[in-house]
Amino acid sequence: MKRRATLIPGDGIGPEITAATLRVLAAAGAEFEWDEQLAGMAAMEESGTPLPDATLESLRQTQLGLKGPLTTPVGGGFRSINVALRKEFDLYANVRPAKTIVPGGRYENVDIVLVRENTEGLYSGFEGIIGIGGDPRAMAQSVAYTTRVGRERIARYAFEYAVSHGRKKVTIVHKANILKALTGLFLEVSQGVAREFAGRVVADDIIVDACAMKLVLDPAQFDMIVTTNMFGDILSDEIAGLVGGLGLAPGANIGSKCALFEAVHGSAPDIAGKGVANPSALILAGCMMLDHVGEPSRADRVRKALEQVIRDDNVRTPDLKGHATTMGFADAVCRRLG
Ligand code: NAI
Ligand code: MG
Repeated sequence: MKRRATLIPGDGIGPEITAATLRVLAAAGAEFEWDEQLAGMAAMEESGTPLPDATLESLRQTQLGLKGPLTTPVGGGFRSINVALRKEFDLYANVRPAKTIVPGGRYENVDIVLVRENTEGLYSGFEGIIGIGGDPRAMAQSVAYTTRVGRERIARYAFEYAVSHGRKKVTIVHKANILKALTGLFLEVSQGVAREFAGRVVADDIIVDACAMKLVLDPAQFDMIVTTNMFGDILSDEIAGLVGGLGLAPGANIGSKCALFEAVHGSAPDIAGKGVANPSALILAGCMMLDHVGEPSRADRVRKALEQVIRDDNVRTPDLKGHATTMGFADAVCRRLG
């Protein structure tokens, strides 16, 4: 039976990479019945609100979604719809795997899964300016918060993921030397959870700036990372860079009542509408979605086909120094799927 799922094509390169992903998923025989909904700029133009009720209602019903990137205005304008969706559905775990596909890059064997806390920290949305616009003493502030229960569930998610995916080590990334309260609590709670998994998963911890450097020097020393919202946002882009860029990095937003799959990258306005965006990240997000609904072998078939197309067939989009178009790449993956 077909599984109902919400589809949000998004804006910028979103509709292009979504079309490519749907083609590949269909070729793999994935049985999703898509309920297409709008969010972000596209929704703003159509209905005057960036997050229509119909979109929220669809996700409430399907509890499963695939989402293209959404543009967030910088500075003013509406708040991030990505953040709003994570908050609305309490999508507390952001899982971002990155694995070397393209040989001959800077690093041969990167295989890291980063688990980012997705609802707390500095992205709480509690921010404002105290004082009047032009006043030199006006003060801007953004409030970061964390709760013991929030820390506990993200740490537990990471260690349970390690066990269920045969991962050996989880590195807790923090800044507890400076942000003693905020990330001190994160470290303390994570270490408590780590002790429960002693003997099954190795745990260590590292300060975020040292982690950023070590990732560049020798990424192979990392297996899994669990970290806070902002550190995870930044480090996951860095890790994507280690494996060939944002075009290859998928992500899952997991909560107890809904799961939303997307690419790590944004709407890429610089290449939108040109038909050259790399759809791999969203296709790989589709694979994570297949894993989530209990179809891991179908997901593995798609991953394998995609890797063969990039590595063996040398069909690559311009971000990977090739000449393929978005749809040309998708068609090559479909051919590999047979
Ligand atoms: P971006 O990720 O859209 O682009 C960064 C660079 O990577 C650009 O040069 C772009 O061309 C390239 N790139 C990204 N994805 C690519 C792909 N699939 N194939 C080839 N090249 C690709 O980041 P940027 O420019 O900072 O953000 C643009 C907009 O996207 C902003 O409004 C931002 O808020 C939003 N955004 C949305 C996200 C989401 O919906 N989950 C995540 C990140 C950003
Ligand atoms: Mg980001």
